[in-house]
Amino acid sequence: MAKADCKICGGTGWTVSEEDGFSSATRCQCVAEAQAEELEDRAQIPKNYSQASFETFLLPQNNPVARTELSKVMSIVKGYTREYPAVTKPGLLLLGPPGVGKTHLAVAALRLLISRGHEGIFFDYQNLLDRIRSGYSETLGTSNREAYRVALETEILLLDDLGAHRVTEWTEDTVTAIITERYNHKRPLLATTNLPDPEMGGPVLEKSGAPAGHSYRITLEERVGARARSRLFEMCTVVKMWAASDYRVRPGRV
Ligand SMILES: Nc1ncnc2c1ncn2[C@@H]1O[C@H](COP(=O)(O)OP(=O)(O)OP(=O)(O)O)[C@@H](O)[C@H]1O
Ligand SMILES: [Mg+2]
Ligand SMILES: [Zn+2]
Repeated sequence: MAKADCKICGGTGWTVSEEDGFSSATRCQCVAEAQAEELEDRAQIPKNYSQASFETFLLPQNNPVARTELSKVMSIVKGYTREYPAVTKPGLLLLGPPGVGKTHLAVAALRLLISRGHEGIFFDYQNLLDRIRSGYSETLGTSNREAYRVALETEILLLDDLGAHRVTEWTEDTVTAIITERYNHKRPLLATTNLPDPEMGGPVLEKSGAPAGHSYRITLEERVGARARSRLFEMCTVVKMWAASDYRVRPGRV
């Protein structure tokens, strides 16, 4: 589809050039631009992250440990986008505490891939589950069941804040179904979570061994179930961001 108001082609989508008395038509650049804009619209990236890119991701100046970690993280995520779709593992799983830039980086990757013509969709985990659940109620139409289909079938799924939901059997089954389907078809998944995992770092304390004053932290496995967790780790390159600090409260934001 061409842009209706394009000054180059006047909305036809074609430009005609003359050479040696022959004229030939080529696709106008606005066709690709319109396609990229449509893909970006369909991705439903929240407004808060409309500026999220690798360029706008700043490395901390005064915390060398966090700086080293975040530059490594950036290069893994950039590397994934560079190699995509010929990636070794179809997914990326970003783990870390709140505010360290997990969603920012996942969105940066998604937007870059979309700008290259891939189809992607952003879903907040809780919102997706709510929409799927309401789709099952008889009073609602098919539009919400659509969310489930979109989460299964879209080329690249960004599942933000995985596990940020109280656990019910239904939640566990639904998330397992989505992850299993994508896993079986090697469909890319960009996921973020701030839930710790005993094998992947993060502050996990044993229930029985939690010292006084420390509350026990719920793990990823407890929220999404063992089957979903196992597939996630197999299909995703795990990116750990435990050393970084909360950018939302970083003094001077540097
Ligand atoms: N290194 C950074 N440079 C620039 N902006 C950043 C950086 N890290 C985070 N931000 C910004 O700070 C805000 C919080 O980051 P983000 O939402 O990505 O955190 P998160 O790790 O996903 O946290 P949560 O676990 O709470 O979802 C966003 O507006 C993001 O764009
Ligand atoms: Mg986030
Ligand atoms: Zn045009």
